[in-house]
Amino acid sequence: MPSMRHTDPNKRRSLVCDFLVQHQPPGTKGKAPDSARLPLVSAPGGLMVNQTNHNDESSTYHQPVMSEEVVRWLGPIADNGIVVDATFGGGGHTRSLMSNTANDIEMVVIDRDPDALANASDLGDSVTAIEGNFAQLGDMLVSQGITAVAGVLFDLGVSSHHLDVEERGFSYRRTGPLDMRMGADTDLTAAEIINDWPEDDIAQTIRSLGEEPRARRIARAIVDARPLTTTTELAAVIEVAVAGGRPDRRHPARRTFQALRMTVNDELDSIRAGLDSAIDILGPGGRCVVISYHSLEDRIVKRRFVDGATGCVCPPDLPVCVCGREPELKILTKKPKTPSADEIAQNPRARSAKLRVAERIAS
Ligand SMILES: C[S@@+](CC[C@H](N)C(=O)[O-])C[C@H]1O[C@@H](n2cnc3c(N)ncnc32)[C@H](O)[C@@H]1O
Repeated sequence: MPSMRHTDPNKRRSLVCDFLVQHQPPGTKGKAPDSARLPLVSAPGGLMVNQTNHNDESSTYHQPVMSEEVVRWLGPIADNGIVVDATFGGGGHTRSLMSNTANDIEMVVIDRDPDALANASDLGDSVTAIEGNFAQLGDMLVSQGITAVAGVLFDLGVSSHHLDVEERGFSYRRTGPLDMRMGADTDLTAAEIINDWPEDDIAQTIRSLGEEPRARRIARAIVDARPLTTTTELAAVIEVAVAGGRPDRRHPARRTFQALRMTVNDELDSIRAGLDSAIDILGPGGRCVVISYHSLEDRIVKRRFVDGATGCVCPPDLPVCVCGREPELKILTKKPKTPSADEIAQNPRARSAKLRVAERIAS
């Protein structure tokens, strides 16, 4: 069995410090945040980020979803080795795990958004923070000398912070630039899609990733209205394009914004690569916990887990197995877990959450 412990915690700890020192905006060191929105600083690629630490009690960075379930599935294995929070965000899940486990658990926390990692500054020496896309999870861990882990958590999608900070351009309700990048690891922006892509490609993207039935009409209206520079300009164009259609109690721009965000951040491919990487690096008995928020994400998770839990794939008429395939996973949640009515009432964002867990089979 490969080693589950990292040999040089000081090396990993310094990564957090280097990161925070490099990104600390002038004059903010050690100061409590005024709000989730200020101050913004320019990161590589012109991405506007807010490097303030949001981990005080009044933090509005993000309210974690299904925290008790996360602790229920990852708590019992946390003593076996490192637990990776691959979508650190406001750090709510990491903090729940740390405060609900008896021993000081060793964690690696990852986020592609430098704003999120600023929340990790007070977590102590047992936590290492890494900025990056979880699609490269394996490489990130191996570069830290970690060859096996006890658990990996993915809490997919955007954080509330992304929607709250208008400069990030995720919200159709707040005026901001058409950006939508979660981190500086991608160059594509929503503005480029909206202003440069052919109508057919925009329609196809909105249809497939936004599951938007009025995709063609919206794409045509976008092309006619070019150039568009702000989120609320785009939302207004969409509202006019679909006016008079079937009434929808949700905002008419919701699906288009989802599709743009998923494209800009290459979200579905990142999930596929991240899951493969996580499953590869789980030690025997290690668990992968995934919370998804819409069917496109959940389908990928479900299929990957089912595929990993599948053994022999030989035709049934063969007398003996010739494929030699062994299952690598055991699915622990036959049906996805969902939040309670109470949690949904307190945190409407939890409404669509589905949590799935698989365990690496000892080979
Ligand atoms: C739903 S939030 C996580 C919230 C977190 N669990 C908490 O308790 O605050 C998702 C986070 O994952 C990050 N993220 C999304 N896709 C990512 C990816 N491919 N690689 C790394 N981080 C990603 C986002 O930047 C965001 O901060």
